[in-house]
Amino acid sequence: MNDTPNPKHFLSLLDFSADELRRLIRRATELKGFLHAGERHEPLRAKTLGMVFEKSSTRTRVSFEAGMTQLGGHAMFLSPRDTQLGRGEPIEDSARVLSRMVDCIMIRTFEHEKLTRFAAHSQVPVINALTDLLHPCQLLADMQTYHEHRGDIQGKTVAWIGDGNNMCHSYINAARRFDFKLHIACPAGYDPKPEILQPGADRCTILRDPMAAAEGADLIVTDVWASMGQEEEQKHREAAFKDHQVNDALMARAAPDALFMHCLPAHRGEEVTASVIDGPQSVVWDEAENRMHSQKALLEALLSDSAGA
Ligand code: CP
Ligand code: NVA
Repeated sequence: MNDTPNPKHFLSLLDFSADELRRLIRRATELKGFLHAGERHEPLRAKTLGMVFEKSSTRTRVSFEAGMTQLGGHAMFLSPRDTQLGRGEPIEDSARVLSRMVDCIMIRTFEHEKLTRFAAHSQVPVINALTDLLHPCQLLADMQTYHEHRGDIQGKTVAWIGDGNNMCHSYINAARRFDFKLHIACPAGYDPKPEILQPGADRCTILRDPMAAAEGADLIVTDVWASMGQEEEQKHREAAFKDHQVNDALMARAAPDALFMHCLPAHRGEEVTASVIDGPQSVVWDEAENRMHSQKALLEALLSDSAGA
């Protein structure tokens, strides 16, 4: 069986070095400048990105699809409803077949292990577009956004308020690669996984009290209380997380120039108040837009002959 060279994948932030990630963030801002100036930049002409979505998406789908168009390439939306993946074709076989036809594949799925199995059988780079464990593409956008508004995040303090979920895990990995302190305020029983937290233990601390976590922080971040796939836990989680809302009182404990981020979609009145997400410290719309610019930098790095991450 002629399974594969070993292409570079982006399944986790930890697949890239600190230098590579910093280069991506800077390149993302550069590509954003080209686009806003109306300059064409099409290094991926005739390249195709396959986009496998087993969960819903607005930002991820649109940012990858529009990004590929802008880079001169094409993106193909593949949902389990319309492909044989949804009828039980093995993930390994799907990876072998798709990767003989397209130049890069992004996947949004449930179990992280499904993504790693897919990547192990792909001849082309695979990008993690969110799993239950990690959401590294979102962190590229968040780090770019912080950098654009406040400069280097190295040595700063970030407060994660809420669930120890895929976003929290990616913040832990970001703290390791971008060298910032992370205060995690999650209710007991909703901690990040020890195998993710432990290697970042020198920079990441769990604090049960959200106010203490926010104290002096340069960036406050939250996410939904019930992630995709946890819909039936919504009511139970609303009770568990009721003291973990990002509101004006919590923002007042942060540094005066602290920023607020949320990967979106947001539930106003649950994890964040309208006054915060729609207020002056919120950069969520820049953050959402930067999904496109940072993923363009990622695609360029993974795919163009000249660029190398
Ligand atoms: N933040 C994010 O990944 O959004 P979507 O679920 O809309 O893609
Ligand atoms: N934690 C959320 C992030 C959505 C972008 C989820 O997995 O549903």
